[in-house]
Amino acid sequence: MSDIKKIAVLTSGGDAPGMNSAIRAVVFSAINAGIEVVGILRGYEGLIDWETIALDIATVRNINNQGGTILFTSRSERFMDREYRRLAACNLRDNDIDAVIAIGGDGTLRGAIAFREEGVNIICIPGTIDRDMCCTEYTLGFDTAANTAAEAIDRIRDTSLSHGRCSVVEVMGRKRGYIALWAGMATSADAIIIPEKWDGNFDNITETIKRRHTDGRNSYLVVVAEGVTDAPELANLIKEKTGIDSRVSVLGYIQRGGRPSAKDRMYGSLMGAYAVEIIRKGGKNRIVAIKNDVLTDYDIAEALSLNNNEIDSFQYELSLMLAE
Ligand code: F6P
Repeated sequence: MSDIKKIAVLTSGGDAPGMNSAIRAVVFSAINAGIEVVGILRGYEGLIDWETIALDIATVRNINNQGGTILFTSRSERFMDREYRRLAACNLRDNDIDAVIAIGGDGTLRGAIAFREEGVNIICIPGTIDRDMCCTEYTLGFDTAANTAAEAIDRIRDTSLSHGRCSVVEVMGRKRGYIALWAGMATSADAIIIPEKWDGNFDNITETIKRRHTDGRNSYLVVVAEGVTDAPELANLIKEKTGIDSRVSVLGYIQRGGRPSAKDRMYGSLMGAYAVEIIRKGGKNRIVAIKNDVLTDYDIAEALSLNNNEIDSFQYELSLMLAE
């Protein structure tokens, strides 16, 4: 029987669809195990300022299908400073919190690693649309973001086709190309440009578009990850080298909002419940992860050195073949 009585949960960094499902599962699992749950508002900022709400079943019952995070979020500059982390740890001790569950991306994980110096038990859940955490094959929000991007690109393709244009669509992903690869493949893009495979040369792309133009095609779709290049510059280059009218759409924050997909609700629920289990079993400073499609967990410091999230080469090669 665990002696855990009270835990806290927070969301930090860029919000991601599925975070609410994770919060909900944390609350249901904890309360069923007789553990009280406090919600920390605005991520690590709320830990420092002790901005909290009590979380019970009624508060979280209907949030599974909501985008964003009911706990709000932030990218806390202050938490990088040890003085504020000490203050946050004091707040947790003063309020008898036995462990914290932090849902977020790499920045959240790095904050957690630094925070454990203060003797706090912090368990992370990977949540970011970018799917860019090296310890896990999946991060909450990716599926919804990839679907939102694909849907938006389908619409752009319709108008691009009608006008005989080349559309350059920039998607999010920070330094990773997962959203671009998935949304690009799903929408049969002529070219998908991702940081992991980018050789710094646009000639292949402009040559391919020119060749297709000569062969009678009249519209083109290029999906580019934000971490590669400036999309308007790329569109200008395509126009200059091919003579084809090229337009840019930067999808931006629509990719981060919206109702979570069934996958993000499911994974959010699984990860939230799993995090509570880790705490109940006496686990300390762990991150929940997916490996070979199964839930697992790692020490948070070890997590940074793992390599579970490479772009699959079969998938990438296929994207090139299908773009022909
Ligand atoms: O990490 C999620 C993400 O949406 C990235 O894809 C993007 O680069 C970044 O956050 C944007 O951050 P902000 O909300 O601070 O502008």
